[in-house]
Amino acid sequence: MKALITGGCGFVGSNLAAYLLEQDGPEQNHVTVFDNLSRHGAAANLTWLRTLSSAEHNPLRFLHGDVRNAFDVEAVVKQVKPDVIFHLAGQVAMTTSVESPRRDFEINVLGSINVLESVRQCSPETAIIYASSNKVYGNLDHLDLVEAETRYEPRTLKQGVDESVGIEFHTPYGCSKGAADQYMLDYARGFGLKTVVFRHSTIYGGRQFATYDQGWVGWFCRQALEVKANPGRAPFTVSGDGKQVRDLLHVSDAVRCYVAAYEHIADARGHAFNIGGGIENSMSLLELLQFLEARLEIKLDYTNLPWRQSDQKFFVADNSKAARVIAWVPLMTREQGLETVLEWELGSANL
Ligand SMILES: NC(=O)c1ccc[n+]([C@@H]2O[C@H](COP(=O)([O-])OP(=O)(O)OC[C@H]3O[C@@H](n4cnc5c(N)ncnc54)[C@H](O)[C@@H]3O)[C@@H](O)[C@H]2O)c1
Repeated sequence: MKALITGGCGFVGSNLAAYLLEQDGPEQNHVTVFDNLSRHGAAANLTWLRTLSSAEHNPLRFLHGDVRNAFDVEAVVKQVKPDVIFHLAGQVAMTTSVESPRRDFEINVLGSINVLESVRQCSPETAIIYASSNKVYGNLDHLDLVEAETRYEPRTLKQGVDESVGIEFHTPYGCSKGAADQYMLDYARGFGLKTVVFRHSTIYGGRQFATYDQGWVGWFCRQALEVKANPGRAPFTVSGDGKQVRDLLHVSDAVRCYVAAYEHIADARGHAFNIGGGIENSMSLLELLQFLEARLEIKLDYTNLPWRQSDQKFFVADNSKAARVIAWVPLMTREQGLETVLEWELGSANL
């Protein structure tokens, strides 16, 4: 497979690139990662990827470029003529999209149009798999939620949210991810491109350089490890009441899902899929903190901040469509997955 991964030095992108580089089949995988290295940790992920590649086996190529620059994108698409583009480069945080809506728009919308146009004009057989967001569904206020002790729970919805829910873009990040999501689907409809959209909420696992703004599972695991190392440290903050629920998708399952979409491209093209860890891997922020307290034998001290803008109280993906069309289900349990995050955070932060 000739794969081009935009944002290939980021969290999901580097895990996907590593997976492709480590495959041991009869065919070579040629992996090109395209990234402007703007994310903290991206350069470290690139160094790590270089240790995994070999010219004879599965070669890796890195191109420093910016998806906002149409020439950069067109040049790489023309040069590589990839079988598939995994389009993961993005402005990834709701909070920073509010601080700088134009930058968010340029990276997420213009960057995606640049990818689509380059493919349409230079390599129309190339498939594009795009990482969208649960934010395209807005606040999901219509869900009939009950407030239980540690989480919000829907009264009736048993399997989570499926793709029939109406889209409603909230926050600049929701608008930019949603616009790109819709362009992806429209380029399949109107120009016959092989595009697929994945709507994710929380992806977690190793090689994520979590920040206060993005990557809550990694961020709170790190806070807990810091408390373990230094029990007297100042309290950290939790936005909202902590009962907001997400289904945790381990990055290894996300990677399998991206590959499955390409393998089933004839059926998947033109479709959007809700992709998450599923109801059995759902967790509220409070439940994560309770898990960490028990696992690390610590007591966590935090203060509550107001809710973040448009923070859904409940989002769990109903994965049924993905199971049916691309034969994918998540395999990693949240308990196994959280161990990988603790291991990664311990190693990366030198706690
Ligand atoms: N991680 C999650 O929980 C999650 C959830 C929903 C959607 N997503 C989407 O998945 C994709 C990947 O997320 P991630 O967690 O790996 O993020 P990440 O920030 O770790 O990776 C994104 C990569 O894109 C690069 N990048 C940013 N702007 C760029 C630009 N203008 N040109 C070229 N490269 C640029 C960054 O340097 C980084 O390496 C993003 O589009 C994100 O919105 C992620």
